[in-house]
Amino acid sequence: MADTSITQGGSAQVTIDLGERSYPILIGSGLLDVTSTWQDLPRAAQAMIVTNDTVAPLYGDRLARVLAGIYGRVHTVVLPDGEQYKTWQSLNRIFDALLQQGCDRKTVLFALGGGVVGDMTGFAAACYMRGVPFVQVPTTLLAQVDSSVGGKTAINHPLGKNMIGAFYQPRKVVCDLDVLRSLPVRELSAGLAEVIKYGPIHDLAFLDWLEAHMEDLRRCDPTALAHAVQRSCEIKARVVGLDERESGLRAILNFGHTFGHAIEAGLGYGEWLHGEAVGCGMVMAATLSHRMGLLSAAGVERLRTLIQRAGLPVSGPRLGVNNAARYLELMRVDKKAEAGEIRFVLVDDAGQAHVRPAPDAWVAEVVDACCV
Ligand code: NAD
Ligand code: GLY
Repeated sequence: MADTSITQGGSAQVTIDLGERSYPILIGSGLLDVTSTWQDLPRAAQAMIVTNDTVAPLYGDRLARVLAGIYGRVHTVVLPDGEQYKTWQSLNRIFDALLQQGCDRKTVLFALGGGVVGDMTGFAAACYMRGVPFVQVPTTLLAQVDSSVGGKTAINHPLGKNMIGAFYQPRKVVCDLDVLRSLPVRELSAGLAEVIKYGPIHDLAFLDWLEAHMEDLRRCDPTALAHAVQRSCEIKARVVGLDERESGLRAILNFGHTFGHAIEAGLGYGEWLHGEAVGCGMVMAATLSHRMGLLSAAGVERLRTLIQRAGLPVSGPRLGVNNAARYLELMRVDKKAEAGEIRFVLVDDAGQAHVRPAPDAWVAEVVDACCV
């Protein structure tokens, strides 16, 4: 269950309640450079920041400086930027750096970057010496509202996205809203896809709020961003607190992802941003929800309009001459598939999510109708 409080410095703190693995998500401005942000973390002789060659020049030194006041030695490993580098090779570079620096099992890893860095660092932390502590320092909107929270870690396999990974929770998540100012416009929109998803699956009042504040969010209004990040984290924390390992409920967080992952894999990772694929995937999932009799045509249109207003694509790419067959083939590799049967996250007009199989013919019809 999620529980939110306001800290002395005026930041919001959402807690993920997972018993002895519970941890705080700190959300606010100016958190990165303040020692108090980092003081409650496990103590160790060494810390390692994992980041990429875009984020390192922006925030790497600032984080290293503040951590140097807490840890004896602070190392940084800089990975190449991009979804196409979410691979074994990059993971090995983290292990190489940890071993070369003689890092022991108390070493704390800091994931400084978007979801790609966060997912890889978390997986490295889960594996190195059978598990070392790690902290998420998400620097994209998508990572602040979704990927840094909940302990899903992974790398991609050429045959499927995020197929190799582990559930491994961070010790803390630090969302400094100020870092979002350097985010390219396209990345901000990608993050908005994961914000929007929380409305139709769980909170129609939040969907109303998003409709009223979409322009504020797109111009990075600090109050609007703070609310969007906090509400998203509250919903995610609540769902993860009830079903950490996705034995049921947590699958609803994958609304739009089954179609979205097919777009990403079908085009080649990195062609469309993950959030763009999820945005378009939500339009497809809403259209399928309508075909299945769960969602009204007005409900589909409402979501399509909001996704478009977020600056996201609402029509899918065609994946070859046998378009629908290719989507179906790619979607059968989805982690929610059981015995080859794809299970879709669908939504209804009451703001409830349902995880169900759907007839191939209906899925094919929806895919072809949603692709240009
Ligand atoms: P990303 O990590 O590739 O970051 C997007 C781009 O923004 C990159 O070029 C990055 O270097 C750059 N960037 C990051 N912070 C910046 C900043 N403050 N200023 C300027 N540029 C900055 O992509 P993402 O959208 O953050 O994450 C997508 C990844 O997250 C995917 O791999 C997806 O599978 C994963 N994901 C995981 C979960 C989970 O639960 N673990 C959930 C959703 C998505
Ligand atoms: N992003 C989906 C999940 O964390 O379950």
